[in-house]
This record gives sequence, C-alpha cells and structure tokens, in this order.
Amino acid sequence: MKRIVPFIAIITLVAGVALSAFCKCTSTGGTIINDLRVEYMKNPVGIDVLQPRFSWKMESSERGVSQTAYTITVSTDEAFKKTVWNSGEVLSDQSVAIVYKGAALTPATRYFWRVQIKDRTSKNIVSTEKAFFETGLMDSGWSNAQWIKPLQRDTVNTVPMFRTTCVLDKKIGSARIYTSGLGIYNLFINGKRVGTPDKNGNTVYDEFKPGWTDYTHTVSYSIYDVKDWLVKGNNVLAAYVAPGWWQGGIAHGKYGNPDLGFIAKLVVNYTDGTSETVVTDPKTWKCSSDGAVVQGDIYNGEVYDARKESAWTSPGYDDSGWQVCGINTDFKGEIKAFAGPTVQVRTSLQRTPVKITRYEGITNTGSDFGMINVKETQTQPAVISLSKGQTVVYDMGQNMTGWVKFKVKGNTGTAVTVRFAEMLNDEGKKLRGDDGPGGSIYRINLRSAKTMLQYTLKGDTTGEEYHPSTTFFGFRYCDLTATDDIRIESLTGEVVGTASEEGGSFSTDNPSINQLFSNIIWGQRSNFLSIPTDCPQRDERLGWTGDIEIFGRTASYNADLAAFFQKWMGDMRDSQRDDGAFPSVAPHCWVGWGQAAWAEAGIIIPWTTYLMYDDKGILEENYPAMEKYMTFLANQADKKYRYNGAGTDYGDWVSYVHTDNRYISVCYYAYSALLMEKIALALSTAKDDEYAQKAASYQTLYNNIKQEFQSRYTIKSGMLNQDTQTAYLLALKLNLFSTEVLRQEAIDHLRQLIVDNGNKLNTGFVGTGVMMPTLSDTGLTDIAYNLLLQRENPSWLYSVDQGATTIWERWNSYTKENGFGDIGMNSFNHYAYGVVGEWLYRYVAGINPDENRPGFKHILLNPNPDFRKTFPKGQKQITQADASYNSYYGKIRSAWKIENNGSVQYDVTIPANTTATLTLLLPNEQSEVFESGIAVKDAKGIVSINRENGKTVMEIGSGKYSFEVR
Ligand code: BGC
Repeated sequence: MKRIVPFIAIITLVAGVALSAFCKCTSTGGTIINDLRVEYMKNPVGIDVLQPRFSWKMESSERGVSQTAYTITVSTDEAFKKTVWNSGEVLSDQSVAIVYKGAALTPATRYFWRVQIKDRTSKNIVSTEKAFFETGLMDSGWSNAQWIKPLQRDTVNTVPMFRTTCVLDKKIGSARIYTSGLGIYNLFINGKRVGTPDKNGNTVYDEFKPGWTDYTHTVSYSIYDVKDWLVKGNNVLAAYVAPGWWQGGIAHGKYGNPDLGFIAKLVVNYTDGTSETVVTDPKTWKCSSDGAVVQGDIYNGEVYDARKESAWTSPGYDDSGWQVCGINTDFKGEIKAFAGPTVQVRTSLQRTPVKITRYEGITNTGSDFGMINVKETQTQPAVISLSKGQTVVYDMGQNMTGWVKFKVKGNTGTAVTVRFAEMLNDEGKKLRGDDGPGGSIYRINLRSAKTMLQYTLKGDTTGEEYHPSTTFFGFRYCDLTATDDIRIESLTGEVVGTASEEGGSFSTDNPSINQLFSNIIWGQRSNFLSIPTDCPQRDERLGWTGDIEIFGRTASYNADLAAFFQKWMGDMRDSQRDDGAFPSVAPHCWVGWGQAAWAEAGIIIPWTTYLMYDDKGILEENYPAMEKYMTFLANQADKKYRYNGAGTDYGDWVSYVHTDNRYISVCYYAYSALLMEKIALALSTAKDDEYAQKAASYQTLYNNIKQEFQSRYTIKSGMLNQDTQTAYLLALKLNLFSTEVLRQEAIDHLRQLIVDNGNKLNTGFVGTGVMMPTLSDTGLTDIAYNLLLQRENPSWLYSVDQGATTIWERWNSYTKENGFGDIGMNSFNHYAYGVVGEWLYRYVAGINPDENRPGFKHILLNPNPDFRKTFPKGQKQITQADASYNSYYGKIRSAWKIENNGSVQYDVTIPANTTATLTLLLPNEQSEVFESGIAVKDAKGIVSINRENGKTVMEIGSGKYSFEVR
C-alpha cells in the first residue's frame, strides 16, 4: 500500500491540475473546511486506535474546486503549543481517512487537531471547527477494578442496583468514568443519570450500554466526562444492570446461565495536580435487587413498581439494608473501547398518537372473535379517562422501534399493563389469521416474546411519568388496561435505536414511491439497534447476516454507517467458527454458521464499506477472516463437485417460487471469488505483490467455479436448468454464461419470465437482493420500472397499498383478500426487501461510487429517468425524481424532471474536492445538451464531453449544475 498511495496521489493531482487548467473556473472565494472527523466520527471520546484516521470536508459554492495539499496538526492543548504530530505540507487531494503518523498516543488523553489545506489558487484555508479526539484506556488497564455482581440471584430477570460512596476532597479539574456491564446498564452520579451534553446544553443519554457484542470475546466500555456530575465532598456512584443481550432470553443460552455484572473506574484529576481513582470493588460497593425496576428483559418487557422508587443514587441514602457484592468471573473476554454511534432515544422522531380508541367488551358480529365495542375515538393526543375493565388502543401512525412514555394519574397500587403490536386484527376471524376481535391488537406474530410493560402507580396526585429502560418494542399500536380507574394524561412513542447520521433522501412525483422510501428508512431506523437486526418485535431481533448482506448497500446510502459496520465486522470476526465459517447471526447465538448468502456478509459488508466510505482499513482488518472463509468454502468440495459453496439452510428465503438452494450456494461462491479478487486488488500496492498474486488466484477460482457451474446448471441450449427469476438474476449478475450470445438469450428469457408472471417478481431475499440493479445492468431498466410500480401481490407497492409504514418480511405478510400471513414468520418490520432503495439511489438517481476511486472521490452519475415507452395497465410514468447522498466529501444531488415537451432537466451537485463522470441519456440523434441555458461546451466546470451510443458522457468538476436535454 505504501507504494501505491503516492502513485494514486500523483494521478489525482495530475487530474486535479488538468482539471483546473481545462475548466473555466472562477477564483475560489468562500471555500471552507468543515465536518472534521476522526475514525469517521465527530470528536470521538474513547478510541483505542493506535493510528487514528482523519477526514474533513471542503465546501465551496464554486465549480471545479479541489484540494492540492494538506497539513494536519495534532496537539494535546487547544492552543496547539504541545504538538505531537505535524504532517508537514503533503501534496495530495486526499481528505478522507488520512492515517496519524505522529508520536505514540498516550491513554486517556484528549488531542486537539486542525487541518490547513491549499486549493488550486494556492490560498491556505484553515479549519476553524473545534476538533478533538480522546484516547481510551488503551493498554493502561482498569486499576484493579473488578466485575461486581449481586451475591445472590433472586428471581428471573431481576435488575440489581449497585452503589458506592466516595469522598473527593479537593477541587476537581477533570474527571472521566470508564464503565461496562454484563447485561445492559444505566449509570448515575449523585442522583443524576450520566450522559453527554449536546451543543444545545441538553444531556444525551446512551441506552442499552454496553451494546451487543460477542461476549465470549468482547464487551465494550464507555467513557463519560463526569466533572459536572461530581462535587467536592461526598459522592455516590450508582448503576443498575438488566439482563439485556447477556443473560436474557435473547442470548438463547449462549453464555450459559451467567450472573449480571458491572465494572467502573472513575479517574478524578484535582486542580493541584494530584488525582484519585475509584473502582468497582466488592468490598466497597453494595447491591440490592429491591428497586423500582422489578424485572427487565428484551423479549418480555419491563415490570416497574413506582412505589419502590427511592433516592438510592444520591448521597445520604441509607443503604444499610443492602448486601455486599460478589465478584463476577463469568466474562472471559476483552473489554474494548466502544467506537461508533450509540443507541439513543431519537427525540426528533418522537411520535404522538394519530388515533386513540377506548373500548369495553366485544360486539358479537358472528365472526370467531367479534369486534371491539368502541366507547370513544380521538384522532389526536387527548387525556383519556380509563375505567377498570376498559381497554384503550393507541395508534402511533408509524411502525417503529422503541417504547412509550406515558403520564398517568390514579391510586397507589393500581397496576397498568401496556401491550405492544404492529397490526390490528381486522374482522375477528380465525380464517384470516386474526388472534382476537376486530380492532384489537394483533400479537400472535410476536411468538414467545411477551413484549409488555407492567407499571404499578405510586399514587402521585400530580401525575407520574414513566418509560422503560431495559427493553424495547417493535410496534405501531399499544393497548393499555388498568386494575382501577386511571387518567392517562399523555402517551408518546419514543424511537430508540442506533443514532447513525441520516443523510440520504429520495423523492418523486409518485406519492406511493415516496411512501415506499419512507418505509425503507423506517425499516432501517427500527432495525439498527446496536447491531443490524432482522426485526424488532418477535422473539428474534438478532443480527441475521443475510438480511444485512442484502440491505447493507441501501442502508449506507441512507445513513453514515462507516463506524457502525466497522464495529459489527468485529462481531463477525469474534463469531467466526474455527473452520472459517461466518455465522448466520452476529453476534453469534442460537443458530449456526456457513450458510450461503448469509455468511457472505463477512465479505460483502467490508467491500460495501470500502466503496461507500473509502475505508481501506476495513478491508485490511478483515482480510484474514475473509481468506479463512474462502478456505471454508474450498473445503465444501465433495466427490462429485469441487465448488459447492456454503450451506443450503436458507436459499432464496421466503420466495414465491423455489430455486434450488445449492444453486444459490454455488452462485454465492462465485460472488465471493469475484469480490475477493477486487478486494485483493484494492489492497495491492505493486504489480506482483502478495495481494496481486492473491487477486490472480481468485480470478482463477472464479473461472473454475464458472466452468463447473455451466456443466452443473445449464442445459443443452445453454440456458439454466433452474427456470426461475432468481436463478437468471444470479447467473446474469455474476456473468456465469459462457458466451455473449447466451447471455443475451438469458436476458431475453429473464424479461419473458417477468412479463409472463404479469410483470411481477416472485423472488425471495436472495433474488430480490440482486434483482433491480441486475435488470438495469442488463438493459432491462424498463422492466425494473414496471416492477417498481407494480401494485399487485407480490410487489413493493402492494404492501404500501395495504397501509404498510415499514418494509414487511413477506410480500404477503398481510393481504386484504386473505388477512394475515404465516404466523410462524410474519414480521411487519424487516428491512431486506427495502433493498429496492439501492436501485432508487444508484439507478433512478444514478449516484454511484467509482470502484477505482471509492468513497465518492470520483462519482459515476448515471441518472435513468423513467423513459418507458409502454406501461403495464394502471401504471403512470414517473416524471420527477430528486435524490441526495451525504458522502464524506459533502452532499451529492441528482434530480431529473421530464417536461411535457419531452425535454429533460437534470440538476446535479458535485461536492468540492470530487469529480464526476455524468452520463445523460439522449432520446434521439438530434438531442442537444445545455447547461444553465447555454450550450454545454461553453459551460464552466465541464472538462470533457463525449457523445456515444445515445448518450452524452461528461467529465465534470465540483459544483452545482443545471442541465437540459432538448
Ligand atoms: C429471520 C430472517 C433470517 C432468517 C434466516 C428468520 O427467522 O427473521 O430475517 O434471515 O430467519 O432464515
């Protein structure tokens, strides 16, 4: 790599110089640098990386702007007097992931940094943003902090509390607390929950700490600046720990029957230069399991008794009745600093009810369960008086993940039960899959997960407010009952999930497509909770690898997932089996390893992360694990076939038409070989280095797989012996036909398969995963549009028409004709089919990274307006689309509009320090291209123009452009 970096830099510099020489650009005023990041995060506190990577964005309103040099300075003081690294002026246009090369970093230290760049005018531009990173404990250790645990375990799912007091007798200069839990924990100091102040002065809390990792190897720790929480004198440190992913049902027994635990190290630096350290120690910490959070479990919910609330987290509390702690020895792995976006309550997404229905009893309608007997309906937030024996159903108008926060008034000891659901029963008929009266909440698809809250009132006459903290729910609806009359003053839905920065957008003039896009976004919000999960409601909520293998690319357009995927790939490596098989679920529990299209996430996710964020580090870090996986695949050979691929457990999961599972395994083996060749080439730094040789051997492997594939899966005509959409899609995507003629025949056949099926797909996870890009890549964009706008079952808009607000697990999770789908597997919040989002960004809007200059340093912009000439019955042309993607260089925008007169308007934005190849389709020979009203050849920022095969291909510099094809 060392040799190729300068080589690339020279190429890009030359390109940059050529660009500035060629384009008619105005002078660069107003260029600024912003969004400084370390390890893809903004001002991260607690990174244990020896050589962190720096990134920044250049912003300019002008065209053709690029960086020509940078100088990074890192210092331990804000005034930049104690410099630990000055990169010197580096002639390079690189501004993403530049590796620190200064003096060895010290643990638990805050480093400030800034960057100065030059643009082609040689003017210096200096960053003004306050930018820093803070190292974690690194190898400095935990100062003998011990994992503490309750000495005795009471009942299942209890939530022990831990506390200690300490005296800090001098003026505090700075303070950090390092904490982790076995289970999930909340931390308090002196009666106040610990969090991080945001820029508006509000405290942001991290939920479900320490997050989910493969605890056989790793648990994460968090770091908080707690100076403002501490006082001179008596202080209390306190935490409660719930089962979470360690001990609860969701662990599926992976860790045996372990105890909950907590570890902490508080380091206080006094202003006089001395310091004090307080750690968890069974001798000085006390424990009780008799708190208000009586039980907490991810699947089953929370039991909370407000009568048990006390000031246990504050000084002055009498803990003489508490027990001493024990030492928890159940954890044998490593405690590592957490890096990446944390799980938070996403306040900007908070929902208020759109419908409140109070009912009592059931009206017999002759159906199995009857209908609910409605007493009151409200269509906006309202105070509800609920009598004993009545039920109130809240509709949040949006399927989501999180919990409800409510305020109630009532007598002490009154118990309130809240149950959660994604759907309502429709007609109260068993035949339609209903599990109760029409209008009541439908819960049978939650399987064994109890998903409920039980709250006992303390009887506060001013009202009492509550939300849980040890569980989460996937829901749109909840119902509430009470053992006595109560008043529900308010109830809101709080969205809880990984707070990754959302940056993608997509809209059209077709409201149903816009709803589909919203469903994709909500599917992601709902299922990115510490790890990428399959669903948020039933007794799974696991890191199913196949689901993210399919949806990962879409997801990384919707939000910045660089750090999220880096962390999750750590879970993949931790959970990899010794023989190299990647797991079906990461962090691993419950199910197995080495299943085709699931296990390959171990290769596909790093590759996607590299493409989207120019993160070569993720390829390097995971390369050995990927190679191990390739060895696992090689070892699946049998006497008959050398190239069998991975396991056949899942195949084209939940498809309408079956494709042989082994066929899918073989195709994914070819896919892995293709990607491994690309990955090795990306890591290669010289023509014949080790990586280049590996790349060559993966190419050979791919060719061999292809050959065996042809003898195994093609018939005399050269077509496939698997006559399904999925089979043709995979073979075309992976170029598995022997000749171009056969490939063309296969494309025609695929078109026919879809047309014969009434312009409908019939694919499952795997086929749908590759469907739309493959159709466009093979010249079938018209078919892709037909599928996108299809409204019959199965299709994306079919579920939209049934009222879906998230993506469903099955095409027919619910149908108006037949009611609910198979209850064994029927989630209404499963992101896999949201993979169509990738096509919307990459093909409809045409925003693509260039594999050769990834991370959108060079953009391949290929918008594909809806140029269909004929439309299936009932379909209308999409005449406008507008999409944006927030790259590491800034916002890329691609919008088009087909005018009534047939001309097409294209508005594009190319961020500073990037370039783009823009390809515009020309309707006919005479079509001409204009930019901001003038002939394109005279426009600023355009480096070259080529007209070929019905297209205009332009190399353009950064800036905003408005093209018109007339
Ligand atoms: C999950 C899927 C997953 C599948 C594997 C299901 O139970 O919800 O999304 O990929 O199992 O077969």
